[in-house]
Amino acid sequence: MAPGTADVESLRRRLDAVGQGHLLNFHDQLPADRRAALLDQVAGLEIESLAELVERYVKNKPAFSLPAGVQPADYYPFDHTSGRRPWDRDGYRAVGRDLLAAGKVAAFVVAGGQGSRLGYEGPKGCYPAGAVSGRPLFGMFADQVLATGRRHGRPIPWYIMTSPLNHEATIEFFRENGFFGLNEADVMFFPQGVMPSLDIESGKVLMSSPHEIATNPDGHGGSIRAIVGSGALADMKRRGIEHLSYFQVDNPTVKALDPVFLGLHAKAPDSSGQMSSKMVAKAYPEEKVGVFCSIGGRTQVVEYSDLPMELQRERLADGSLRFIAGSIAIHVISVGFIEKLGTDPSFSLPYHRAEKKIPCIDPRTGAPITPERNNGVKLERFVFDALSLCGSGDGRGSIVYETDRVEEFAPIKNAQGADSPLTSRELQTERAARWLERAGVKIPRGPDGKPDCVLEIRATTALDAQDLSGHPIPEIRAGASVVM
Ligand code: UTP
Repeated sequence: MAPGTADVESLRRRLDAVGQGHLLNFHDQLPADRRAALLDQVAGLEIESLAELVERYVKNKPAFSLPAGVQPADYYPFDHTSGRRPWDRDGYRAVGRDLLAAGKVAAFVVAGGQGSRLGYEGPKGCYPAGAVSGRPLFGMFADQVLATGRRHGRPIPWYIMTSPLNHEATIEFFRENGFFGLNEADVMFFPQGVMPSLDIESGKVLMSSPHEIATNPDGHGGSIRAIVGSGALADMKRRGIEHLSYFQVDNPTVKALDPVFLGLHAKAPDSSGQMSSKMVAKAYPEEKVGVFCSIGGRTQVVEYSDLPMELQRERLADGSLRFIAGSIAIHVISVGFIEKLGTDPSFSLPYHRAEKKIPCIDPRTGAPITPERNNGVKLERFVFDALSLCGSGDGRGSIVYETDRVEEFAPIKNAQGADSPLTSRELQTERAARWLERAGVKIPRGPDGKPDCVLEIRATTALDAQDLSGHPIPEIRAGASVVM
């Protein structure tokens, strides 16, 4: 029902009180349907908290102060025979396989981001990422979900978090592609929440048109509330799912469902079984990745900009970095943990501010503005901030497991340079080359040691190097592009 005049006036008063009255500047000139849409959007804002958000995140920049006594987080090393911390890889793999076979695990990809750095039109999951095939990211993950389900004798449910800005386009893409061979009933989409985007100088909420507030998705940390609020949690419980294998939409080589990691999360003696993480060894001290640290006995990701450079450069006696555990945004999160947090009215994760170029209109004239410099602030929550909430006082908490960079980290973030389609293609090729070499295949390599070919192994062909044994493999010539 459209709000009456009295409701409009009361909204106007509330907005004026927090310096956001401009949101209704064009209201009276709008056609009825647009008025209603605008009022709905305005009514959905937490109007009274806007003033505080502007004060904390726009007028000021929250300063992070690193607590004293920060330590590097302990982790399960990739080499499970390492003298530093030996562990039973086969045993944990068996635990993870049992969980998958018992239907207790779902895949969960966060795909609500705007992908502005890549500059691709459309949901980022539609991006053609396959090194040779140009298969879309969503299709590459679907291959893994399908192959893992086949291996464990039952379909694996897959939850996909979208945002209101890309929800319909994402579902439409799956429809156009026949759900990539997955059963439609086992793929669930739900949108995350949004936050109003704020003017970088004044803190006024930006408008994208006279009848629409400019918004941004509220960060991957919004997933916890979105899972609960969207009904996805109820669906997970109905299906008997206990653990979510969480990954980001931009990493085509992620192991979407890794039995070893699942087993460690569920059964390692120091794991609370609530939220676990994968790390890769930082390549060099200045590498711009968050680092797993232990603060007051709790695992946390400290952003690279918050960790003093002298700590980032510190080395152990063997020459390795002391703060080595780089975060690659791969987690296992238990459904019980999400329910505990997401249904607690006092639960909230902190906001992080990012300065962005946000197209908008002039709130006085309605003229469109295409900014050349950052004109806006977007506020997002980060899922890794939930790590510090793990544990219940029994000494167990959030664990970290090391993986190999080439095996599962080939992100596509930027159009060019680091973490771009080109570097991802090289990493996908290097991984495929290693798998093939292990199977006894000769790979042509150039003087720099890099494969002199482009290779892609689909997950439906092999989920890991072992799957290639006995598989027919073509000869690979220099300069060839091979997908298998
Ligand atoms: P990024 O931090 O790379 O952000 O997201 P982004 O918005 O996709 O890209 P830029 O910064 O505009 O270039 C990491 C992962 O988190 C998801 C993204 O879809 C990606 O999988 N994400 C991010 C969400 O699901 N929601 C958000 O609000 C933000």
